[in-house]
Amino acid sequence: MFSHVEPYAGDPILGLMDKHKQDPRADKVNLGVGVYFDNDGKLPVLNCVQKAEAQIANPPKPRPYLPMDGLPGYRAACQNLLFGKDAQVLKDKRVATTATIGGSGALKVGADFIHAWFPQAKCYVSDPTWANHIGIFEGSGFAVGKYPYYDAATNGIKFDELIAFLNTLQAHDVVLLHPCCHNPTGVDLTQAQWDQVLEVVKAKNLLAFMDIAYQGFGEDMDADVYAIRKAVDMGLLFFVSNSFSKNLSLYGERVGGLSVVCKDEAQAKAVQGQLQFNIRRIYSSPPSHGGHVVDIVMNDDALFNEWVQEVYVMRDRIKDMRQKLRDSLEAKLPGRSFEYITKQNGMFSYTGLTPEQVARIIKDFGIYMVANGRISVAGLNASNIDYVANAMAEVLKD
Ligand code: LMR
Repeated sequence: MFSHVEPYAGDPILGLMDKHKQDPRADKVNLGVGVYFDNDGKLPVLNCVQKAEAQIANPPKPRPYLPMDGLPGYRAACQNLLFGKDAQVLKDKRVATTATIGGSGALKVGADFIHAWFPQAKCYVSDPTWANHIGIFEGSGFAVGKYPYYDAATNGIKFDELIAFLNTLQAHDVVLLHPCCHNPTGVDLTQAQWDQVLEVVKAKNLLAFMDIAYQGFGEDMDADVYAIRKAVDMGLLFFVSNSFSKNLSLYGERVGGLSVVCKDEAQAKAVQGQLQFNIRRIYSSPPSHGGHVVDIVMNDDALFNEWVQEVYVMRDRIKDMRQKLRDSLEAKLPGRSFEYITKQNGMFSYTGLTPEQVARIIKDFGIYMVANGRISVAGLNASNIDYVANAMAEVLKD
C-alpha cells in the first residue's frame, strides 16, 4: 500500500532539536531552533503567564470549542499590538483578524485565502528567508520566487537590487516581508528603507504579507511594527501574521494571529468570513488554553505591563550575549571584525559560517546550528558562551 511513499529528509530547523537531544556530550549547545532560553539554559515560564494560568485553573473552567476565529479578546490583543490601541483603522473596523495555530498557521490560512482569491498571484520571499515560508506558500499552490535581500559582502541589504526587483513584479503578487528581526539574517530595513519599499508596493499594487514573530525583541513593541503602521498610514491593504510563541514563551501552545487590513468594514466582514471558512476546513477552531492565556495577559493593564518588561529582559539578555560573542571573537581572531553580530536584531545572527564549517562545529563540538550558518543567540548564556566562541574561532581561523 505505502511502498511508493518517499522518506522525509527532516526539517532543517526542527530536525536539529532531536539531534541535539540525542547528543550524549555534556557540553553540547543548542543554537538551532529560534527559542529563547534564559541564562540558566531554561525555557522561561513568564510571570505574567503564571498569573494568567492561576486564574484559568482556579476554579477549573469547562473547555468548550472556541469560535473558529478565536476569542474576541485575543483578536483585539493582536490588533492592539500590531496597529496601536487607538488606531483609526481599528475604530473604522477595517481589519479582519483571526486567531491561528501559531504564526505558521497564520501563514497557511493567509496563503490559502490569497491563492483562492488571487489565483494568478506569485509569491516572493527574501533571499534568504525562513525555510518554511517557501514550504507553506508552495503547499498552498503558489510558485515562490526570491527577491534580493541579504548582502554577504557587507552583512547588509542589497537595497537597490531589492527596489529594482520589486518594480518588475505584477499587480497582486505577494511580497512576504519581515517587519523586524529578520529570520534568518537578523538584518532589518531602516525606517527610511521601509518607506521606499512600501512606496513600490503601493505603486505596483503588490500584496504585502508581513510576518512578525518577534515583536518586542528588536527595538521595542512600537518601533518593531513601524512597517505595519506605516503601511496603514499609506492606505495599503495587506496581510499580517503574528506569533506569541517567542514573546510570551508559549511555543507549544500554538498562539498566532492573522490580520487583513481591508478597504472598509463591509470588506473586512467578508474577509473575516472567508478566513473562518478556511479555518473550518483545516482545523475548525483554535486551541483553548493558550488562547485564554493571551486574552488574560493582554487585556489586563497590570499583566500587560509586566509582560512588556519581561519581553525587554529577554531582548536585553540577547543583546548582551551578542556583545560578549563579538568581543570574544574579536579577541581570539585579531584583525577581524565581528561588528555584524551586534548590528543584527532579534534572536538570530547570520554568522557567515559555511555549511562545511557548520557540519564541523556540530561534529567536533556538539554546537547545533542551522546549515545556513544561522545561530539563535538566545541559546547562548554565561556558561556556554566561551565554549561557543572558542569553537567558532577554531572553525573560522583556517
Ligand atoms: C525558527 O526559525 O527557528 C523558529 O521560527 C521555529 C521554527 O518553527 O522554525
